[in-house]
Amino acid sequence: MLTPELQAVLDGESEGCILCADCLDVLPLMPDGCVDAVVTDPPYGITYSSAHGASWKNTCIAGDSDTRVRDSALGYFKREPVAAFGTWKTPPIADTRGVLVWDKGSASGMGDLSFPWKLSWELIYVRGDGWSGRRDEGVLRGPTLITWESKGRLHPHEKPVWLIQRLLERLPLANVILDPFVGSGTTCVAAKRLGRRYIGIEISEKYAEVARNRLANTERPLFTKETQDADP
Ligand SMILES: C[S@@+](CC[C@H](N)C(=O)[O-])C[C@H]1O[C@@H](n2cnc3c(N)ncnc32)[C@H](O)[C@@H]1O
Repeated sequence: MLTPELQAVLDGESEGCILCADCLDVLPLMPDGCVDAVVTDPPYGITYSSAHGASWKNTCIAGDSDTRVRDSALGYFKREPVAAFGTWKTPPIADTRGVLVWDKGSASGMGDLSFPWKLSWELIYVRGDGWSGRRDEGVLRGPTLITWESKGRLHPHEKPVWLIQRLLERLPLANVILDPFVGSGTTCVAAKRLGRRYIGIEISEKYAEVARNRLANTERPLFTKETQDADP
């Protein structure tokens, strides 16, 4: 059975929720077509662990040993538009229609330190319909992310809010946004800022709590473009 907080979002009685759960337990319970889009940053399948001086040093994120969790979760969404972060080291998501590159800027870059180029970019796989707007270059650039936990970074794989907002802006009709691997809550923060409803699922209690706190401190706009457009 769906939790009351999730049901309230689906019924339009709540602006959003963050669930602490394994998404593979929750997704099969959700009715077909109950979300409008999935924007997510799933475990990449590379067993990545950071060597940075941070509390997450040498820890792997859950489910990162292969892409099975990612593929099972996205398998529940055959009709909805999907954007999912990924790496060239593992296969793209099924039915990928196009690929975007997030240029993280020269300050970023993990990977093989003996290789004379940094991995200063990440891939975003895009599938499905509903994407629209001005035709633009497929490399996305913006303010760089804080890289140090001591300066405010919340998750080893945190994504910038502006980047997710830019993806959501290309889904103007998507009201209910799902991120089944929400981490520190970035997708839901971006959705809330745009006046959309959101569902975030996170297996780690620590990051689910981080996400809830972020959402509690995120303002929902009084007027969204959609509501302004709808005004007489
Ligand atoms: C790449 S991180 C997402 C980071 C996020 N984009 C952010 O900005 O903070 C993926 C997250 O998925 C979570 N995760 C892994 N397997 C999961 C599962 N089966 N269900 C729900 N969450 C899961 C991990 O704990 C991790 O926080």
